[in-house]
Amino acid sequence: MSTATTDAPEATETAVPSFTVTFIIRRFDPDADSEPRWQDFDVEMFPTDRVLDALHKIKWEQDGSLTFRRSCAHGICGSDAMRINGRNRLACKTLIKDLDISKPIYVEAIKGLPLEKDLVVDMEPFFASFREVQPFLQASTAPEAGKERIQDVVARERFDDTTKCILCAACTTSCPVFWTDGQYFGPAAIVNAHRFIFDSRDDQAQVRLDILNDKEGVWRCRTTFNCSDACPRGIEVTKAISEVKQAIMRGKP
Ligand code: SF4
Ligand code: F3S
Ligand code: FES
Repeated sequence: MSTATTDAPEATETAVPSFTVTFIIRRFDPDADSEPRWQDFDVEMFPTDRVLDALHKIKWEQDGSLTFRRSCAHGICGSDAMRINGRNRLACKTLIKDLDISKPIYVEAIKGLPLEKDLVVDMEPFFASFREVQPFLQASTAPEAGKERIQDVVARERFDDTTKCILCAACTTSCPVFWTDGQYFGPAAIVNAHRFIFDSRDDQAQVRLDILNDKEGVWRCRTTFNCSDACPRGIEVTKAISEVKQAIMRGKP
């Protein structure tokens, strides 16, 4: 007969090791620099940390002058789009374990908008294009007293994808046409026009289609798909642009 004891095994905690990651950040201080410059920082990180955590550690522990935007830290506000290893992403959604940490990680501001300081750009030209497409519901008739404007599921589905935009500018600032011609409306403005053009409750679609049927409108798009690849919300940006082009040619379906 066995006399072995049946004590529960001791719980063992396996600590996840941290490691040092080198970040090379493109810095620019308008009061001190004539040109942007690259600066290295070594940061102790865990695999589940995000690039935003690294920026916080640098700012809090190494250089308080590092300047970047962020608010929600959870992929909702759209304020921390930046170029990470040459690709537009949200710093708060980019995990260290998803990057190649055997090499330094390059971080710089999004391209095509005026650089203000370090990772911060002037977003005003981006929001000016957004405002120009009239991104709000316009209905000429009032709903029945005490009733809502009814929309069925199929009609809502028509523009569901483009409702997900968080105005982060990752798409517009990854577009080569926008880089060479800051006058182009850019994919984000077109996405937000799409959201209302295909809304069955709105009756100003033609106004927006006329605005985008412009030399700086949808016809500048060369279908390079950078915008779709960059979108952190997974919006099919290029498809939305193509639907707006078709609506200009054939009218709102
Ligand atoms: Fe950002 Fe996507 Fe909206 Fe472009 S379409 S602004 S990438 S959320
Ligand atoms: Fe630019 Fe996207 Fe068209 S990257 S060219 S807007 S497909
Ligand atoms: Fe809000 Fe990243 S901080 S989306």
